[in-house]
Amino acid sequence: MEKNYAQLILTELEQNGEIPDTLLLAKKFEIEHQELVGYLNSLLLENYITQEVKEIQRWVLLQEGLDNATNGTPEFRVFKGIPAEGISKNDLEAKFDPNVFKFGLQNGMKKKWFKIKDGLIQKEVADVVDEDAVLLKRIESNSNLEDIKKDVFDNFKKRKIITQEVIKYFKINKGTEYKPIYVELESDLTYDMVKNYDDFVKNQDGTTKSNTELAKKFKKYNWNSVGKDIKTGNLHPLMKVRKQFREVLIEMGFEEMATNQYVESGFWNFDALFQPQQHPARDAHDTFFIREPAHSKNLDPEYWERVKKTHEVGGYGSIGYRYDWSYDEAKKNIFRTHTTAVSSKMLRQIAIEFAKDGVFKPRKFFSIDRVFRNESLDATHLAEFHQIEGVIADKNVGLGELLGVITEFFAKIGITGLKFKPTYNPYTEPSLEIHGFHPGLNKVIELGNSGVFRPEMLRPMGLPEDIQVLGWGLGLERPTMIQYKFKNIRDLLGYGVDMKLLKENPICCFKN
Ligand code: PHE
Repeated sequence: MEKNYAQLILTELEQNGEIPDTLLLAKKFEIEHQELVGYLNSLLLENYITQEVKEIQRWVLLQEGLDNATNGTPEFRVFKGIPAEGISKNDLEAKFDPNVFKFGLQNGMKKKWFKIKDGLIQKEVADVVDEDAVLLKRIESNSNLEDIKKDVFDNFKKRKIITQEVIKYFKINKGTEYKPIYVELESDLTYDMVKNYDDFVKNQDGTTKSNTELAKKFKKYNWNSVGKDIKTGNLHPLMKVRKQFREVLIEMGFEEMATNQYVESGFWNFDALFQPQQHPARDAHDTFFIREPAHSKNLDPEYWERVKKTHEVGGYGSIGYRYDWSYDEAKKNIFRTHTTAVSSKMLRQIAIEFAKDGVFKPRKFFSIDRVFRNESLDATHLAEFHQIEGVIADKNVGLGELLGVITEFFAKIGITGLKFKPTYNPYTEPSLEIHGFHPGLNKVIELGNSGVFRPEMLRPMGLPEDIQVLGWGLGLERPTMIQYKFKNIRDLLGYGVDMKLLKENPICCFKN
């Protein structure tokens, strides 16, 4: 049967009036001190006992000390390895671990247990007592150490084979609710108590218990007890930040686009966006090409034809790029290099719907997902990362609306005072880099890129002339790194990620 330690402790108190040293009591009970402390805590909580914290310093053996205590000192072991007729150094060495031999030889010669004579190691005495090992064993047992001299301890300590440890223990006295007999209290209100309520509240003489009496039947709630560490899954910081951006964009009336297609044709990633086929970004240095299947099909021949023509000779007020547009190049499968590949497909979809219904509905879209670039990897670059992108298609919108919506978007994540800088994108005109003051970093940083989509992109899709499309994009990693104070992008994404750190990260909130 399991021992009732709470009762054993009370019996001890009853017999001796106090318990001067819980370390000794744990030894007497033959349990770990920590386990005893557990029982003491519940008695303490119910005020059976009071406790006073005490401290002692104790010598403990370090690993080498333990080894010497159990297997003998190196010199003793080496001594025991020497036969009566002596032995060559090499033969003796072969019997031992290199360190044991080295120190054993040194110490043994110093102690004059053996010496080198005629090229052999020979014993100088018939037998030896391993005094150090005996001392270490006594220190390990931690009793009757009074006669061991201070310099023995100092010497062992210097050799790093023992160390001093502070041990906490308690002195126990009777508490306000002390009784010699331990009454096990209820810790939960059970079904049976409720079902047999009358029996539960009645005393043996038939009187009903008062509330205070009833409360005494239950254990006091321990508000200080530490909860169990619950093993749970948790969101990656990038996904937490994505969730926040998603909420901001949904709040602003944007619909989320489906982004679950990582492999896209060059057509949607580049050609549909009026990005010429010779553009350096279409090089294997920047883009990952898919080997199998290497090509996708042209499922929209009329539209492709218009795209081909716009690239080659222009149209809609443009003179085009004036080169021979290749179907083969457009069909090449790649990992999408930006989420604008998703937007271009969606815009063509809107144009198809418009052609069918003849009515144009203004639309606002966003996407947040993974893109891939054949980059050389360093502290701020990965070959895969995430982009956030917003797209607005409407009548009578232009640069003013673009600046307005970007300003509102960043204000919602706590970044104000934006600056815009002209830039070049093949698919937008005008194009603007977005810069902003980041309060966390206390400086102006580049936040993203934006622009008004070109007619050379929109008109071949079939969008009418009076429809403008605005867009902006930014990376997800950068704001996340700033938010969570990551210096290296590889701590955030990939195999270098510390799972414990991810688990302990707080939820993301930009405006704190
Ligand atoms: N695709 C651009 C990038 O990768 C961002 C962008 C999106 C620019 C939409 C203009 C319009 O940086």
